[in-house]
Amino acid sequence: MRSPKGTFDVLPDAERARALIADHGAEILDAAGYGRIETPAFEDTELFERGVGESTDVVRKEMFTFEDQGRRSITLRPEGTAPICRAYVEHGMHKLPQPVKLWYRGPFFRYERPQEGRFRQFNQIGAEAIGTDSPVADAELIVLLDELLRGLGIDDAELRLSSLGNPEARAGYRERLRDYLREHQVELSDDVRSRIDTNPLRAFDADHAGTRAVMAEAPTMIDSLDEADAEHLAAVRRMLDAAAVPYRLDGTLVRGLDYYTRTVFEFTCERLGAQSGLGGGGRYDGLIEQLGGPPTPGVGWGAGIERILLAMPEAPPDRIPEAFVIAADGDLERAFGVALSLRRARLATRLDLAGRSFKNQMRQADRSGARVAVILEDGGGVQLREMGSGEQRAVALDELADAIARG
Ligand code: HAM
Repeated sequence: MRSPKGTFDVLPDAERARALIADHGAEILDAAGYGRIETPAFEDTELFERGVGESTDVVRKEMFTFEDQGRRSITLRPEGTAPICRAYVEHGMHKLPQPVKLWYRGPFFRYERPQEGRFRQFNQIGAEAIGTDSPVADAELIVLLDELLRGLGIDDAELRLSSLGNPEARAGYRERLRDYLREHQVELSDDVRSRIDTNPLRAFDADHAGTRAVMAEAPTMIDSLDEADAEHLAAVRRMLDAAAVPYRLDGTLVRGLDYYTRTVFEFTCERLGAQSGLGGGGRYDGLIEQLGGPPTPGVGWGAGIERILLAMPEAPPDRIPEAFVIAADGDLERAFGVALSLRRARLATRLDLAGRSFKNQMRQADRSGARVAVILEDGGGVQLREMGSGEQRAVALDELADAIARG
């Protein structure tokens, strides 16, 4: 048996790097005042239909949707923003001081064609600031994602930034874009042509050569912003400049989810090939109202943990134990007791559980990288051996933990 297509098991060696990402993320997000939230792995299907948008690929073809025994339509969450906005409304978080700043981490599910960096169950770490339309929140979040990636050694990610403006300005722009696409119909891919009415912006995302050539000349939203939206974008840019976070203004940036307004951004890493998106997000000033809440602006991002892993330059080293307990007398139960007392003294301690020979236990201790070996001799004696120098001395059992801790 194998795990289902597009899924994977995380074995202990791989988990170490994941834990590093999670710990680093938690540290910088907690420090910036974001609190961790957990929402369920599945939601009512309607949440994503209303929140993510029925014309998006995510809702049209990528959701794991099923009927539960009570005949409710349930969907494994394909993304985290709509569920968090649902929770914000459900728990009356608009009554808290605004903005409410939240972060999350966990599995997400999309029925996509699996390939390197693209899975059907994947993990995201994400952050949202809900209840402010200030461009300072946009800048804060973008800088945090930049810091997250750089702190993990990824310093060649490119940040693309754009603005989708407000819904009215965007509606006008979409009409102009539709006219332009209709003028060039014959040069477009079938898929793009069939979506001129429902989702003309997706044309910017196409791989098809003819479509790309048409889109290179297409009008962009960034040139159609009204004054307030243009100033919002300008403010975000000023703060990114002040923070020395480089970005490329890119009017062709499209995001695969419908809720975005104003700022959108994405960090990409060319080294990853086709699935180069490390993380992205933007503003969703209409989403909470769309989900039945009071009009409430919000902004945030989600980053793919598997993509970050692929982009990270080096795997973190194995956890190196402080001590390795060696039963030279062959008495594994005694070794177990000694190891336990060291662990209870908060010293990372290993021991051989397989009854290996003295020589093989020494070899294992060496391989583990432990700083010291605790050799339990016949007759009850204990030797403390510095693995580096080979220096060895007798130590009383009740002084062992202190002797090791002192180094
Ligand atoms: P998204 O761009 O759809 O945005 O996903 C965010 C990140 O999740 C992507 O940049 C990518 O790294 C990762 N990802 C997406 N799909 C897959 C997959 N099939 N396999 C592996 N990794 C994947 C969102 O989900 C929004 N909720 C982000 C957001 C938060 N916007 C505002 N707030």
